[in-house]
Amino acid sequence: MKVNPKEVSLGAMHNYLLSSIGPRPICFASTIDAKGNKNLSPFSYFNVFSTQPPIAIFSPAKSGRTLTQKDTYHNAKETREVVINVVTHDIVQQMSLSSTAYAKGVDEFAKSGLTPIASELVKPFRVKESPIQLECKVRDVIELGDQGGSGNLIICEILLMHIDESVLDENQTIDQTKIDLVGRMGGDYYVRANGDALFTVPKPIRNLGIGVDQIPDKIKNESIFSGNDLGMLGNIEAIPSSEDAKAFKNELGIENDWSSQLTKAKELLAEEKIEEAWKVLID
Ligand SMILES: Cc1cc2nc3c(=O)[nH]c(=O)nc-3n(C[C@H](O)[C@H](O)[C@H](O)COP(=O)(O)O)c2cc1C
Repeated sequence: MKVNPKEVSLGAMHNYLLSSIGPRPICFASTIDAKGNKNLSPFSYFNVFSTQPPIAIFSPAKSGRTLTQKDTYHNAKETREVVINVVTHDIVQQMSLSSTAYAKGVDEFAKSGLTPIASELVKPFRVKESPIQLECKVRDVIELGDQGGSGNLIICEILLMHIDESVLDENQTIDQTKIDLVGRMGGDYYVRANGDALFTVPKPIRNLGIGVDQIPDKIKNESIFSGNDLGMLGNIEAIPSSEDAKAFKNELGIENDWSSQLTKAKELLAEEKIEEAWKVLID
């Protein structure tokens, strides 16, 4: 199936995009208007784009239904300040409630039952229940169009980050198993980043992997290996020596038995033992 954006409805395009590009982080944006009225709304057109300067961008889009701009867009343009709060599983229902299209000036902190606390460098309030709050100044607003569904990039420079100690590990870094972030997917779906949903992949940047193209065809063409298995085998700096391989296979009692070697290698890869997997596969 192919989707040409010019040939489908706005709603259909919206669904195709939001169901494909995900999970998306959620910017829980706190702003105020020129009169000081608080506003709090979630936006999943959001990410971080630069570390120096530290820049996050989110996009309140012009409504496809009412053809009006969101209050957050007006506030960000007017007062040039935003606090971005991260969304964890503990506050996902209150966050969702705050996305209701309340009239301008209605305080979504009160509507959602979340607690506003003062920021240090900007006027918008932080969400107390969110473990990470970013005080930002708006560097730029880029309007991407004037139609329903047109996004507006709110380019935010992070001035100060607040991190709740409960999500830190002993090295003062943010523990990914503690933070319990949620992400937005298509339809009514969200994803919760904890438990079995979390896994690690060692960064290839730390070594120069030989690459899948350097794996001998005899191994590469075995259907037992998936793309992920080949990716792991390719992420080794040097193929182990045949002496090491021989000794290892001898120890396991699987010398000259290709089918057992393949089964063992598959098992070792599942345990992320790449060096050992190589040793059972080479002559
Ligand atoms: C999880 C979530 C993510 C959302 N992401 C966006 C988004 O990226 N852009 C957008 O325009 N609206 C998004 N919305 C809808 C807005 O939150 C909603 O239109 C809100 O009423 C805007 O409030 P405001 O007019 O007070 O700024 C999202 C809603 C939810 C629940």
